[in-house]
Amino acid sequence: MTHTDLASVLDGARVVPVLTVPSAATAGPLADALAAGGARCAEITFRTPDAEQVLRAMAAHGGLTVGAGTVLTPQQAERAVAAGARFVVSPGFDEEVVAKCCELGVPVVPGVASATELMRALRAGLDTVKLFPAEPLGGTPMLHALAAAFPQARFVPTGGIDAPRLPVYLAVPAVLAVGGSWMATAAHLQRGEYGEIRRLIAEAVHGSST
Ligand code: 3PG
Repeated sequence: MTHTDLASVLDGARVVPVLTVPSAATAGPLADALAAGGARCAEITFRTPDAEQVLRAMAAHGGLTVGAGTVLTPQQAERAVAAGARFVVSPGFDEEVVAKCCELGVPVVPGVASATELMRALRAGLDTVKLFPAEPLGGTPMLHALAAAFPQARFVPTGGIDAPRLPVYLAVPAVLAVGGSWMATAAHLQRGEYGEIRRLIAEAVHGSST
């Protein structure tokens, strides 16, 4: 997958569910619930011991473009891609992670929290970044300010965003898609609430739960 391919997936996706999944046993029903709700992609965070197995199972299940999140090192990027990640997301901008992803030929979406970090990402040849953590950084006014200064940049704001705040982010022209965990939280997964996950995804993707 190229950066252009990923941009086109994100552009049509509206949301990127950010998932912290404790066990690969839930990968199948979770992937089904996401796809049934209309999700096109999902980000599996490297925050649990089983993250690689979850990623592998979700990627093998099909129906979604599955990427890895919270990738902090080049070694994690390698492991993520070996497990089937089609894209890599980082909470911050790290030259070595970006270089490793370029070497592996996998699109990377680094986090940026300032104009300086965005300049580094652009200089590394990237134009799609994750504004993280979006709400604490100032939300859509921050996005408008960055987009005005860097018209070539596209954003996937993530961090502190929920269903009521989603429309204002999606209304920003420079926003490709919005990331967040509210559609499939740890509590949903723990309780096996796949119907609720599907409903929340549908609400985010279609603007209604039907
Ligand atoms: C992330 O890892 O991208 C964020 O933790 C997701 O942010 P949220 O939990 O505030 O939606």
